[in-house]
Amino acid sequence: MEGVCAAVSRDISEGVRAGGETESAAAYVPERPTLSGLQEAAAGCRGCHLWERGTQTVFGEGSPDAEVMLVGEQPGDQEDLAGKPFVGPAGRLLDRALEEAGIDRRQAYVTNVVKHFKWEPRGKRRIHQKPSWSEIAACRPWLDAELDVVEPEVVVCLGATAAQALIGRDFRVSRRRGELVESPLARYVLATVHPSSILRQRDDALREAEFATFVEDLRVVPPLLNGQSP
Ligand code: URA
Repeated sequence: MEGVCAAVSRDISEGVRAGGETESAAAYVPERPTLSGLQEAAAGCRGCHLWERGTQTVFGEGSPDAEVMLVGEQPGDQEDLAGKPFVGPAGRLLDRALEEAGIDRRQAYVTNVVKHFKWEPRGKRRIHQKPSWSEIAACRPWLDAELDVVEPEVVVCLGATAAQALIGRDFRVSRRRGELVESPLARYVLATVHPSSILRQRDDALREAEFATFVEDLRVVPPLLNGQSP
């Protein structure tokens, strides 16, 4: 029979507080927020248990007037330490891809569906762990508030976690990458792969090919911002 501790720890990792209450950031989100107000409030978020593992909240970054919002999964090791999204290896690859696709990162808003780094120790290393649905749901009020403030014209989901959280659980990036999908989130919504999936390719040739396809997906964006119909 499962002991109380095991049950509690399973519940915590599934985003349920002792007592059966579902975890959520909702109570931490200020009313009528600005981006800086959101960032400040999110720094103290205890809406789910992930704050205990992360160094700090890694909130989204960019202009409140950004026309493009890029949404990843969760901060990685370097982002957790820096307190900024997409500043590690995946972020550097993303920067290169954005530049090649003609998207100025300084004019985009970059964020994640989950704002704390979820990891487990392996020796001295902190190994990324995929966030659960309940952790994604608990963090969702922050992303909704970012969307409300920024009101981007285009939302780009980076990878399956973001795409399935924002477009639908059945969404398959492998089948529908680069395709504009109907969504209440923004006028234009699309998904592509996560930049770290490119870094994980077996060899340089595969990495280059995947990078080129990633850039092609992102090239969909600039014409949309110039008022050209898709
Ligand atoms: N991967 C993500 O999904 N987001 C980051 O900020 C960094 C790596």
